[in-house]
Amino acid sequence: MDMMDKGIDRIVEQLRKGGRNVVFTGAGISTESGIPDFRSQGGIWDQYRPVYFDEFMKSREARIEYWRQKTAFYHDLQKARPNKAHLAVATLYEMGLVEAVITQNIDGLHQASGIPDEKVIELHGSNRRVRCMSCGRISSIEEAHKRIEEGDPAPECECGGYLKPDTISFGQAMPEREVEKAIALSRTADSFLVVGSTLLVHPAASMPGYAREAGAFLAIVNLSETPFDTLCKVLIRGKAGEVLPKIVDRLKAG
Ligand code: APR
Repeated sequence: MDMMDKGIDRIVEQLRKGGRNVVFTGAGISTESGIPDFRSQGGIWDQYRPVYFDEFMKSREARIEYWRQKTAFYHDLQKARPNKAHLAVATLYEMGLVEAVITQNIDGLHQASGIPDEKVIELHGSNRRVRCMSCGRISSIEEAHKRIEEGDPAPECECGGYLKPDTISFGQAMPEREVEKAIALSRTADSFLVVGSTLLVHPAASMPGYAREAGAFLAIVNLSETPFDTLCKVLIRGKAGEVLPKIVDRLKAG
């Protein structure tokens, strides 16, 4: 039995105990759905410079650049479907073995896989909707991209406010309610499974630390290194789309 199998068996054994189990995901769980991650070779930050929130609010050029970047990935996002890893997490939820999913992802694929909205904590918001930065009005991402295709490079609200996908940019305030819920879940978790994240961006990346401090069984499934690799009970260097279904299969096999 190789290291991966041993790791999977230990996660299965832990999940079998029941308790409050939390799954924490990053962009790596969605790469097998055709959505690039941020820090792998050729990832989004290899292709684009992030537009910080204050730039977005201060400069029309920055807003135009921001929407240009969003447009580049819009079609990838629109045609993306949950992959085997998302579906495996949803099965664990249906089996009553996962309490909730904390995600840094903005693609809505955990909800699309069947996990109820209220059980998916989106720490970095969602690219599925647009918010006016002045009046807060919510509108659809489709509507905004239609306006961009028709020649408006940085759409604005009827109130004159700047429209922005409802995601959290660097320098933008985090959604308080979601952060509080994520911290509470992390602090009361019996096991905390990280899937597909470099765990470099805080406060999201603090969640595994809260779980570990509270005595949770911390496990990581990730293709590259994270700062928690030496702090977790199980570390699997594997693809989410291969490892997560194996966890489900072994749980079902009893
Ligand atoms: N299976 C397992 N791991 C994978 C897979 C896969 N199929 N594909 C990629 N990975 C791993 C990569 O090796 C990398 O370690 O997933 C991780 C993705 O890390 P990042 O690209 O840094 O994404 P993430 O951790 O979600 O970034 C956090 O940074 O820029 C911000 O707001 C953005 O939410 C994002 C945050």
